[in-house]
Amino acid sequence: MTMKGKSLISITDYTKDEYLKILETAAGFEANPNQKLLSDKVVASLFFEPSTRTRLSFETAANRLGARVIGFSDSGSTSVQKGETLKDTIIMVSSYADIIVMRHPREGAARWASEVSSVPVINAGDGANQHPTQCMLDLYTILQTQRTLNNLNIAMVGDLKYGRTVHSLVQAMCNFNATFHLVSPQELKLPSVTKMHIKDANLKYEQYTELADVIPFADIIYMTRIQKERFSDPIEYEKVKNSYVLTKAMLEGCKPNMKILHPLPRVNEISEDVDTTKQAYYFKQAENGVYVRQALLATILGAK
Ligand code: CP
Repeated sequence: MTMKGKSLISITDYTKDEYLKILETAAGFEANPNQKLLSDKVVASLFFEPSTRTRLSFETAANRLGARVIGFSDSGSTSVQKGETLKDTIIMVSSYADIIVMRHPREGAARWASEVSSVPVINAGDGANQHPTQCMLDLYTILQTQRTLNNLNIAMVGDLKYGRTVHSLVQAMCNFNATFHLVSPQELKLPSVTKMHIKDANLKYEQYTELADVIPFADIIYMTRIQKERFSDPIEYEKVKNSYVLTKAMLEGCKPNMKILHPLPRVNEISEDVDTTKQAYYFKQAENGVYVRQALLATILGAK
């Protein structure tokens, strides 16, 4: 198994053994975050779409590893505004940096970038398609809270149609004999192609419209935001925007070790009164992103 020099575009680009190796390496960084393993490396951080956690945790990860970071958080300040293509941008940046971390609103943009880049590309989210590094930190967090990744009841709630974190996590959890409980409005069901992954793995899924139905037996409740920016028709967004709001009162009767995850940002789908419950784990989940991204950068750049 070698991940050195390997781009990470879709979660299915890596094997189960490779995920587990990344999680093990991440645990080492959680125990000891400041390891100057990449002091001769430059990391390019190219964010064509807004981000708080992914960009800042990647940049923190690079800094903790001693790498230098170049890039932008707003393509409005780059030559994209003058009409430069993504291809030319990537060719240029790959001549400056040792690795490219890229978020882009267009599905497939990260794959395209990896095909024209001379250095590895990490997909930090491409439209409604994939978010593999979020998936790795979700796996890390599930393992940290449940002590296993195997045989879990995973409830996924909210925007399952456009939710790239959901698509990546379903695919990854197909390696661990999960049972999927899919809670969404009719309009935002999990795409057929992702359901096919579950069927191909001979695993089970159930679909629901009521969040309360899954709370008694879930090991993990993975809440997601209804993403206004993915709707072409604002009226369609208005119809579904308040579909689910998880409150503290609803947690009565949940499994003793059930944990609530959310890739964040949240809007109103988790009430603030949940934040102080022992089930709330989403802020720690976001912190875990630093350790997992350290593991990915160090592994892909050959320092681990
Ligand atoms: N989870 C996640 O991708 O958050 P950001 O959009 O803030 O990066």
